[in-house]
Amino acid sequence: MTKGSRLQDKVALITGAAKGMGAMHVRIFASEGAKVVATDYNYEGVQQVVDEVNKEFPGSAVAYKLNVADENDWIEVTKKAYEKFGRLNVLINNAGILESATFDKLTHEQWNRVMDVDTWGVFIGMRNVLPYMKEEGVGSIINLSSIAAINASGGLSTYTAAKGAVTALTRAAAIEFAPFNVRVNAVHPGTIDTDMFREGFPTDELRHAAMQGQPLKRVGKTEEVSYLMVYLASDESGFTTGTSQVIDGGYTVQAGDIAAVPSEE
Ligand SMILES: NC(=O)c1ccc[n+]([C@@H]2O[C@H](COP(=O)([O-])OP(=O)(O)OC[C@H]3O[C@@H](n4cnc5c(N)ncnc54)[C@H](O)[C@@H]3O)[C@@H](O)[C@H]2O)c1
Repeated sequence: MTKGSRLQDKVALITGAAKGMGAMHVRIFASEGAKVVATDYNYEGVQQVVDEVNKEFPGSAVAYKLNVADENDWIEVTKKAYEKFGRLNVLINNAGILESATFDKLTHEQWNRVMDVDTWGVFIGMRNVLPYMKEEGVGSIINLSSIAAINASGGLSTYTAAKGAVTALTRAAAIEFAPFNVRVNAVHPGTIDTDMFREGFPTDELRHAAMQGQPLKRVGKTEEVSYLMVYLASDESGFTTGTSQVIDGGYTVQAGDIAAVPSEE
């Protein structure tokens, strides 16, 4: 991985970093000069990611166990991160889960599980990093929403509601945090090649079908999301706050296969 400096002087806490997009963000942030506090409730998994990253970029990352739904974990981990690196100026609220069930089958327990991780976890994450960012006088928070907050699909009501709340919370926080020069933005990925996507579309046939409603007919790469994160975390995006950044191969702008001008045969 080539070394850049777009994130020099940034200390980024990333949740859900044991695999998928979060793990790629750790690698790419380290390659751009950031110090990374990589966290997950799967401690062994995130420690492995950090060990690999530190081989290439020595001393750039540290692993801590953090269940995003537990505020005591946030209090402890943000304190340790600050003691380790002396500042905390970027947060990626990346951890997320989903439960698939139709309206008639969804249990209150499933509803609460998703809301606790995807929405409450984002809220308490923002609340607990704010004092450190205020002290620093600058900060960037990036919350993982989804195209599910824009285009609904069947069987994902709780995930759709949770991600819709993340987008709305992002706007609310952008207003409250602006006086402290802390920016807050939401990212809405489409189909990105991780376990979450592969479990949602378990066969090649289903994955292929999912691509058909999408102008760029391929699955997104995790690093394509990481570079949007680099932009939002860096001072390059200093005037960007409260936004929803869609990264979905055109999925949400395609209104079916109808063309006003027929294509030439
Ligand atoms: N993959 C996609 O196509 C896609 C699309 C839209 C949005 N998203 C969102 O992007 C984010 C990352 O998704 P992904 O595909 O990389 O997921 P993934 O399932 O591959 O990885 C999720 C990570 O989060 C961790 N995690 C789960 N619950 C946690 C908790 N309570 N505390 C701490 N860590 C926890 C898991 O251990 C895992 O390492 C999620 O918020 C997801 O909803 C994903």
